[in-house]
Amino acid sequence: MVICAVIACDHFMQKLPQNFNVEKIRRDFPILQRLVRGKPLVYLDNAATSQKPQAVLDALAHYYEAENANVHRGVHYLSEAATNAYEGSREIVRRHINAASVKEIIFVRGTTEGINLVAHSYGRKHIKAGDEIVISAMEHHSNIVPWQLLCEETGAKLRVIPINDAGEWIWEEAVKLLNRKTKLVAVVHVSNSLGTINPIKKLIALAHELGVPVLVDGAQALPHMRVDVRELDCDFYAFSGHKAFGPTGIGVLYGKEAWLEKMAPYQGGGDMIKSVTFEKTTFNDLPYRFEAGTPDIAGAVGLARALEYISNLGYEAIDAHEHDLLNYATETLSTLKPLRLIGTAKDKASVVSFVLDGIHPHDVGTILDRDGIAIRTGHHCTQPVMQRYDIPATSRASFAFYNTRAEIDALVRGVEQVLKIMA
Ligand SMILES: Cc1ncc(COP(=O)(O)O)c(C=O)c1O
Repeated sequence: MVICAVIACDHFMQKLPQNFNVEKIRRDFPILQRLVRGKPLVYLDNAATSQKPQAVLDALAHYYEAENANVHRGVHYLSEAATNAYEGSREIVRRHINAASVKEIIFVRGTTEGINLVAHSYGRKHIKAGDEIVISAMEHHSNIVPWQLLCEETGAKLRVIPINDAGEWIWEEAVKLLNRKTKLVAVVHVSNSLGTINPIKKLIALAHELGVPVLVDGAQALPHMRVDVRELDCDFYAFSGHKAFGPTGIGVLYGKEAWLEKMAPYQGGGDMIKSVTFEKTTFNDLPYRFEAGTPDIAGAVGLARALEYISNLGYEAIDAHEHDLLNYATETLSTLKPLRLIGTAKDKASVVSFVLDGIHPHDVGTILDRDGIAIRTGHHCTQPVMQRYDIPATSRASFAFYNTRAEIDALVRGVEQVLKIMA
């Protein structure tokens, strides 16, 4: 039996930023105040989607109440206001990830669409039979299936960097896999099912020695750590707004201008053209060439506000708090004997995946839900990871900066309850 008072000893008391007031931060998130099944909500499913601060909800409401119109095409007041709101959001995203130009910021529906865009527009133009695309064994299905489709279409081959038992890339194998046939490397920055933070900067440098571009799936990284695309020197970086405290339905694909200029259009339609005749269409400049049709204007505005919210908290403070939660959760859950952690990399973000001997994760999730505790159970859209560990699924708790040690205590008590019920 884990007694929370006992485990809250000095050993766990890392130094947290003094001005980081979790209780105050939690008051910014209306949903965190609600009860679920009569109990205070304990939301530990942040890797699936994050909750939204009032500032983001206000930005969405304000946009629809005061600025709603279509962008780029109108001469009237509201169209200009909407265009300014949309393009202003693009500049906020650019600054947030330190891209060189707003031409490199393409608004998409999310990480999945960003990756599909590159598979379509880069892949179909630059990849042919016999070429190789390198991914890793811990990719989300979003960063596997688009490349499989491309390989089927072109005759290219998918190569996979294997992982060790801790859930880290086996570096020597990565080095061996990259060669003159490699035409693209597409890898995840932070694994959603294992929590591993991958050494992407090192892999990007290695790929660039061979002149190979690198796409990074940043869905689980941007909400937790500073991403500087110029420092990383990645060629593409995709992330989703909804995992970064912004709205659903909006995300970003960053692409180096030099690559975007050499890529085929993604979808055809309004806004992505300069001129259209029945004989010939000329395409618009970047970034509009990749944004066909009316975009999710309100989504972009909400995302920009979410990024500002993160910046105001500061990634250093977020990192310190989340690492404290990760260490606390790892150590307290590890004291439960039939529990096995899946994903024990040295460098981890705030994801704790585990299995309990003889108990299906769905039972764990269902029993925890009765106490208002939300975790995710299943394969987390990483079935090859499950195959690697020879398990059908895991239970996954994933933390954000608004979570607390008390919530982890509740999780541990909940798992103890599961063990009692299922014994
Ligand atoms: C690592 C990773 N990549 C890609 C995705 C897909 O993100 P979205 O569904 O927002 O496109 C997810 C979502 O869970 C993810 O965790």
